[in-house]
Amino acid sequence: MSIDRTIKIAPSILSADFADFGREIQAIEAQGADWVHVDVMDGHFVPNLTFGPPAVKAFRKHVKSVMDVHLMIAPVDPFIDAYADAGADILTAHVEAGPHIHRTLQAIRAAGMKAGVAINPGTPAEAVEHLLDLTDLVCVMTVNPGFGGQKFIDMSAKVRRLRTMIGDRPVHIEIDGGIDPGTAPLMADAGADVLVAGSAVFRGGSADNPGVYGDNIRSIRAAAETAAKAA
Ligand code: DX5
Ligand code: ZN
Repeated sequence: MSIDRTIKIAPSILSADFADFGREIQAIEAQGADWVHVDVMDGHFVPNLTFGPPAVKAFRKHVKSVMDVHLMIAPVDPFIDAYADAGADILTAHVEAGPHIHRTLQAIRAAGMKAGVAINPGTPAEAVEHLLDLTDLVCVMTVNPGFGGQKFIDMSAKVRRLRTMIGDRPVHIEIDGGIDPGTAPLMADAGADVLVAGSAVFRGGSADNPGVYGDNIRSIRAAAETAAKAA
């Protein structure tokens, strides 16, 4: 089975106006977002707190594309059904979030969602080597998770290693953290196809002035596509 490996831009609503999520989601989709990336943080696995299942369920009403939910929580398993009920298309858990990521990925698929596995900057590609047939997406963190707007950490070598490990399997490589038109080409060249971007998409725009979001998305996409074609 083959998958779409063209570049997809997934704006993170962590950088949106928290009092206006519905309009912000509508604005980024109208301006060319391919997926909507939703960062769930618990103040325990990461030192920041965002929102939980009821809020994500409310976002779902506005998301017409793919709702890509990135869990930065521990434990994960008790909440899987709640995120299925909230309407997540893809549910991503961190390999560092517990001792049984294999079981977690099975449970995510059993609940009817695509399963993603995320790895922190300090975690090697080999941590997911035995999970590749259980997963639809590997999320490579290029910042330490917890906050938007942090400095990009180059994980090119890890992404190349993963791309080779994945081979023909239908598994996306997603990059999360510090993506902008300057860093996107490095990751596309290494083999990533989904680029999460928070501050670089929302910077300078608003739901009342959404054209800026479109300009930002196009700049990231153009930079990445040039590199992906050359790779
Ligand atoms: C970080 C989150 C990211 C973050 C990206 O913990 O998982 O999705 O919002 O934000 P930027 O693009 O600003 O680094
Ligand atoms: Zn994220």
